[in-house]
Amino acid sequence: MNKVKIAGTGSYVPDNIVTNDDLSRLVDTNDEWIKSRTGIITRRISQGEDTSQIATKAALKAMEKAKVLPGDIDFIIVATATPDNFIPSTACMIQNNIEAINATCFDVSAACSGFIYAMDIATQFIKTGRANKVLIIGAETLSKILDWKDRSTCILFGDGAAAAVLKSGDEDGIISTYTGSDGRLGDALTCRAVSVNNPYVDKEAEKFNPVVKMDGKEIFRFAVKIMQKTINKLLHDSGCSIDEIDCIIPHQANFRIIEAAAKRLNISTDKFYIDLDKYGNTSAASIGIAFDEAYRKGIFKHGDTVILVGFGGGLTYGGSLIKI
Ligand code: ACO
Repeated sequence: MNKVKIAGTGSYVPDNIVTNDDLSRLVDTNDEWIKSRTGIITRRISQGEDTSQIATKAALKAMEKAKVLPGDIDFIIVATATPDNFIPSTACMIQNNIEAINATCFDVSAACSGFIYAMDIATQFIKTGRANKVLIIGAETLSKILDWKDRSTCILFGDGAAAAVLKSGDEDGIISTYTGSDGRLGDALTCRAVSVNNPYVDKEAEKFNPVVKMDGKEIFRFAVKIMQKTINKLLHDSGCSIDEIDCIIPHQANFRIIEAAAKRLNISTDKFYIDLDKYGNTSAASIGIAFDEAYRKGIFKHGDTVILVGFGGGLTYGGSLIKI
């Protein structure tokens, strides 16, 4: 089996900063409620850039960092719940933008766990020798599927993109990965697409309003339990103890979820890298943006052990234990 390392990361968020006060002019909310219930202070909201465009910007940064040429990329895997189109895939659009003509390209639908799922798929391709260099991207313009009149959801999310280049290397960077899903809880977080509508459908097709609907309490309970389970599974599989973990990069949904998970794991929240105050929940991009930001800030040093962990619609979950 080949060894897999993360050769470079990159991220991009739109320029437009939206504060809690800004949102209080759209819906009946206030800065104090949002800050105390979620930890979010600002988020970036696209003023027109679509998912493939912000993803391309993150991808180019990761490729530059990894010193990888477009023609050397074997696969582009994009995790998104907010593609530009049903067809073509966002991955194929990015392939065209960056001229990665030798890549096989596809999208992954795993909501906020998408970056971890993409990393897991890329890792398996490289381990088995099927690929040498894989570009993974988590990118979302969640703002286009939010109900901007629903104060319980529109305050939570932001737009953004993150990318990483994974390649075979001499040192093992990805020590263990774990993913799972529980479709029984799918109704807790939904956004309908289009209904079946063709000349053979008798009744008039139901018209869906494609916006995010969420049972916040159900997600909260699931998230806390599954973060603990995923972290413990990664520790068990890699033979590490929690004390050997230098940093945990969680999905950036809500500070209270991270706090509750930390309590269950009997660790300080200081072990978690948190940037949700600035970006809100950017779904499939959130773990990647935080990982890239922590890298750029010099928070990691060579040899550090880091856990990425997330959960999302589906419901889905997963994590990776990584050596920097
Ligand atoms: N501003 C002011 N008041 C609000 C707002 C708001 N933005 N939103 C809800 N409220 C009100 C409610 O109407 C309710 O009022 P009531 O008591 O008069 O009925 C009150 O605040 C409490 O509402 P709750 O829903 O009980 O608030 P809670 O403490 O559960 O927090 C939240 C809601 C923040 C959504 C929380 O449940 C949560 O974070 N859940 C996790 C969900 C999550 O993180 N989702 C992200 C997507 S999941 C993923 O990443 C895939």
